[in-house]
Amino acid sequence: MTNSDKRLTKKDRPTPINKEIIIDNEAVLISVTDPKGIITEVNDVFVQTAGYSEQELIGAAHNVIRHPDMPKVLFKIVWEHIKDRENVMALVKNLAKDGRYYWILTDFVTKVDADRNIISYTAYRRPVCKEVQEAISPLYKVLCAIEELDGMEASEKFLMDYFDRKKITYDEMVEDIIIMHCKKAAALGFGNQQNEDFKTMTEEKKQSFFKKFFGIK
Ligand SMILES: Cc1cc2nc3c(=O)[nH]c(=O)nc-3n(C[C@H](O)[C@H](O)[C@H](O)COP(=O)(O)O)c2cc1C
Repeated sequence: MTNSDKRLTKKDRPTPINKEIIIDNEAVLISVTDPKGIITEVNDVFVQTAGYSEQELIGAAHNVIRHPDMPKVLFKIVWEHIKDRENVMALVKNLAKDGRYYWILTDFVTKVDADRNIISYTAYRRPVCKEVQEAISPLYKVLCAIEELDGMEASEKFLMDYFDRKKITYDEMVEDIIIMHCKKAAALGFGNQQNEDFKTMTEEKKQSFFKKFFGIK
């Protein structure tokens, strides 16, 4: 059989089971894609968590690990940012090969050459605690329900109205959830910065906070 015969597609996705994969708090799950979103590199912990072999993952698209509880509009937002060469963070529930799920905070980073052509996209993922999962899940459930009934245009409209009402962006909402629940649960091992008010942090400080969160030097 050739490589392309074996290529994983979203049709290979298993039936989800309501069981969580617990990921080591210190783990960073990494994958890299080409500009079309085809996986070119993966690290060991991403491979182990996804449950597919490295050979199965390389050459596939990430939608093989897309969980049906994830609203489509979320990935639309991610792609809009990264195609514009802007980094973006997203709270994502992924589906493993055995049907279990895992929640991660994903930092999507676009790499460009000297002419600003996109070379690759990298996703750095860190596990998030139950409180974070519970804070974001109700919104994702509503978005998925809207998508099922009326499609993604309707869920996008709902989400934009939601952000307008709250005067917040998706990134800011994710940051708020992480910070609020890190303080409350003190579960993510952030060190002293847990006690600092995130809203008053400078951009530079915020960046180093999240670099720390993702274990990026
Ligand atoms: C670097 C990178 C990492 C990605 N990681 C994930 C991921 O962990 N889970 C996921 O569902 N989609 C991920 N995506 C988004 C997928 O490309 C895709 O948009 C998403 O799974 C929805 O696919 P669908 O609309 O075909 O169902 C990633 C994309 C990029 C560029």
